[in-house]
Amino acid sequence: PTPIILDCDPGVDDAIAIIMALGLPDAIHLRAITCVAGNVPLSSTARNARQILELAGRTDIPVHGGCTRPIMSPTGRTSSAHGTDGLGGVRLPEPALQLQPEHAADAIRRIARETPGGITLCAIGPLTNVALALLRDPALADHVRRIVLMGGACFGPGNITPLAEFNFYADPHAAQIVFDAGVPIVLFGLDVTRKALLSEGYSAALATSSDQRREAIGRMLGAYESRDPCLHDPCVIAWLADPDLFELIEAHVEISLADGVASGQSVTRVRDRHLEGRKPNCRVAVDVDNAALERMLSDCIAALD
Ligand code: BDR
Ligand code: CA
Repeated sequence: PTPIILDCDPGVDDAIAIIMALGLPDAIHLRAITCVAGNVPLSSTARNARQILELAGRTDIPVHGGCTRPIMSPTGRTSSAHGTDGLGGVRLPEPALQLQPEHAADAIRRIARETPGGITLCAIGPLTNVALALLRDPALADHVRRIVLMGGACFGPGNITPLAEFNFYADPHAAQIVFDAGVPIVLFGLDVTRKALLSEGYSAALATSSDQRREAIGRMLGAYESRDPCLHDPCVIAWLADPDLFELIEAHVEISLADGVASGQSVTRVRDRHLEGRKPNCRVAVDVDNAALERMLSDCIAALD
C-alpha cells in the first residue's frame, strides 16, 4: 500500500475522504492526518478529524494540528457548505483521542523522511501546512513522492468566486509555493470534482440505516448535498486506489496572487495552447467514472465494519 499523509480541513467531503483512506487498506497506508484551517477554523477541523477516526474505530491514526490562518492573510476564509461545525450539523461525541503535540508541518517533514521511497502527500484543504513544511525545509521535496491535491478550477468557473475554487482562494500563496516545489503534482479541481456526484437517494438510504456509522455518514452527506453535491476530496483518495477511474492531462498551472477579482484563480495552460515554452508542472484530472467512485465509497464504508 502507498504510505500517505492526509492534510485536510474536515469538512464533510474531507470526512468522506478520511473514511475512504481507511477503507482501502490494500492500496493506502494512512500514516497520519494533519489538519489546517479551511472550511472551518483549525480548532473545529482538528476536532472533526478525530471524531471521524473514532466513528471509524481507528484511533490508532495520529492527528496533528497545523496552521490557524493563511500565509498572507491575518484571518481565514471559511466555507458555508459544511455548516458552522464542519460536519453538517451532525453531532458526534467529543473525541477522547488527543491531538499529537507535534505541529502538522513538522509531522509532514518527519514522516516524509521516515518513509522509504518518499511519502505521498494528499492535500484536500488550503495548502498552508504543506507550504510551510516546504518553506521550512526545501530538501523535503526529495522525500515527497508526489502531492495529490484537491484544488483549483482549471477550465471552468470557480465555486467561491466566479474564477476561484475554495482551497486555492483560501490560501493562494501556499498553493503557489506548492506548485513551485518541484514535486510531481496530480490535481483534482472542480473540472473533475463537479462530475463526482452521488446517485439520487444514496445518502438518504445511508441515513436511514440502523447502523450508527452509516446513519451518521448519511446524515452528514445529506446536509452537505443540499449546499454542494460534489465529492471533491474523495477523488484524491479514489485516484490513488484506482487511477483508471480518472482521465488526466498534462498542464501548467499557476495561481493568481494579486488581490482582486481573480485572486486564487488557477491559470492553466495546456499542451499546444498557451504553453509558450513552459513545461507542464502537473497532471490535471478532467473526467471520472462516478458510478465506480460511488461503488468504491460503499465498499470503503463496508470495510470499516
Ligand atoms: C473544496 O473546498 C472545500 O469546501 C471542500 O472540502 C473541498 O476541499 C472544494 O472547493
Ligand atoms: Ca477540503
